[in-house]
This record gives sequence, structure tokens and C-alpha cells, in this order.
Amino acid sequence: MGVAEDLSSLRDEALDSVASANDLTALEAVRVAFLGKRGSLTSVLRGLGALAPQDRPVIGQLANQIREELEKAIATRRDELASQALAARLQAESVDVTLPGRKRSPGKQHLIHQIVDEITAVFVGLGYCVAEGPEVELEYYNFTALNHPPEHPARAATDTFYVRDLSDEASNVPGECDVLLRTHTSPVQVRVMERQAPPIYVLVPGKVYRRDVADPSHLPRFTQIEGLVVDEGITFGDLKGTLEHFVREVFGSTRRVRLRPHFFPFTEPSAEVDVSCGICGGEGCRSCGGEGWLEVLGCGMVDPNVFSYVGIDPERYSGFAFGMGAERIAALKYGVPDLRLLVEGDMRFLRQF
Ligand code: DAH
Repeated sequence: MGVAEDLSSLRDEALDSVASANDLTALEAVRVAFLGKRGSLTSVLRGLGALAPQDRPVIGQLANQIREELEKAIATRRDELASQALAARLQAESVDVTLPGRKRSPGKQHLIHQIVDEITAVFVGLGYCVAEGPEVELEYYNFTALNHPPEHPARAATDTFYVRDLSDEASNVPGECDVLLRTHTSPVQVRVMERQAPPIYVLVPGKVYRRDVADPSHLPRFTQIEGLVVDEGITFGDLKGTLEHFVREVFGSTRRVRLRPHFFPFTEPSAEVDVSCGICGGEGCRSCGGEGWLEVLGCGMVDPNVFSYVGIDPERYSGFAFGMGAERIAALKYGVPDLRLLVEGDMRFLRQF
């Protein structure tokens, strides 16, 4: 019987195709080819009417069996393919929880900022407030109101960065209204005294600029920390006690402090402060140049001329001031041999602190 044989080879062909369909799309194509509206098995079923009446039930039953068998085979294959696809996806997206984590290196504060914060904390602990002023400053605040005479060498354009170009105008000397990059944080003393009546206890950290070539002990841009106290009855003894406390807090309680007479235009009397060498304890060694002492800051009693610029009565009030370089303090504290290391950004150096 021809039709029955055709049907059985169609069945074999269809089952082969189902078995070899490698993904769900291919399987769907097989289903459409055999069981779809215009599929081969469907057309056999449609053509039943053309058969001899006695053959119809037999062929019809056979075709239906085959269709059911095919539908089952397709469903089974679909489940197989779906679970294969799921397994592949789980495999691809799996996370190996035993892998070591990726290391992140957290940022940290630069040594200069650490030192500034440390020094600030010492003075805040004594009741000081933190004040700031502009890095681009008027000549008046940087020099004149700090009692620098007109011919003072620091005013020269060879030492100070002026905003106006003074280079080829030999006779053109900077005047009070000239704008410059401040050479120290001391102008903030004047700005604070202009806007605030005593008692004044302020600490002023900030960047300063000088026309210096960078070398082991100079930087053209560095950080200063200025202090100013103005109150009734302030004496040189208060200044000395304050600085001794500061040195012990920052360098350790075994270090000694020495004041040497010095000159600054804005303080009278003035002194430079030395701390005993941490390496030889004051005996003299290579690191302190045989001196036994290291210079840490400048200080003095506020000059009455400075008070006169800001209208503070020198008969009623007295004050002291001091100024230090944060890079220098950091270098002395940690034995850094070259200040340039502090600004070059070499992580191997900076990570040590
Ligand atoms: N301004 C000085 C400098 O840059 C440092 C200084 C010395 C500041 C004495 C002061 C002071 O307040 O009293 O070299």
C-alpha cells in the first residue's frame, strides 16, 4: 500500500529532523515543515478524501498516530534544547566566588596636608581659629602694611611674582596697588586685624610663591602656616610658651627649643626658633650640619607700626606672630633630604606617609 509506505518514510524523515535540530529555531522550522498548515503530514491528512473509502480509516488512523508521535518527539526535543540552553547560560554567567577580589588602592592625604592638619589641630586645641586670605594679593598687604620700607629687597621683581609685566621697565618699580602672588601668609595678619577687633587668635595655612629655583631646600611654591595673637597683656613669654608647646606636640617631648634674635620688618623684637636635632639630640651631627639645632620658624612681637595700619591701639593691645614652612617641618620631622620630593608626586615616596 503506497500511501502507508509514504507515511512511514515521512515519519522516519521527520523524526530524524527533530533529532538533529540543534536549537529551538531549527526545531520550530521542522515542526512547520511537517505539521504546519502546509506541512507534509498535514497535506496527507487533507488528501484523505481522494483515497478509496475502505482505505481512509486505516490511513487516517496511521497519519494521526504519526502526528501524535511527532508532536511528542518535538515537545521532548524542545525540553531538551531549552534545558541545554539554560545550562549553557548558567555556565556562561557563573561567578567564581573563590576568585580573589580585585584590589582597590584607596587614596590618602598628601604628606603636606597631613602636616598642615596636624599643626592646625595643635593650635585649634589652644583655642585658635583658622583664617584664610587670597594667594593673589595686593602689594599693600604683602609688604607696605607689614612695615616693609619701599627699598626692601623682597619687593624686587627678581624675588616676587608680579601680575603686571615689570621685566623690561627698569625704572618701573612696583607700587602699592600692584598685584602679586603673595610671598608669605603674613598679609593675612593685616586682613584679619582690619576686619576683627582683638582678642585675635588665628592660624593661617596657605600657599605662597617666590621667584626661587627649586633645589633641595627651596620651592617656588610652598605652604606656610602663620599664627597671630592680639590681646591685652600678651608678652614674649606667651610666644615662647606657645611655640615650645607646638614643637613638643609635633616633634616629640624630648626635643628642646631655642630662640635666636633675628629681624623681620613686621615684628619687634623678632626671633628665629630652632629645635634640637632629633638625630644627635643636640650634640651636632651630619644631619644638622654639626649645629645640633634645626631652624623651624620665624616669630616676634607685632610691631606697633603694623597696628597703626589697622587701627589697633598699641597702648592697650600687644600681640605676637609666627610663620613656618609646612614642607620644611615635614622634612625635619621625617628626615626628607630634598623638598622637591614633596611636590613631584612619586607614589613610591608618598605612600610611606
Ligand atoms: N613671613 C616670614 C617669612 O616668610 C615668616 C614670619 C616671620 C612670619 C616672623 C611671622 C613672623 O609672622 O612673626 O619668612
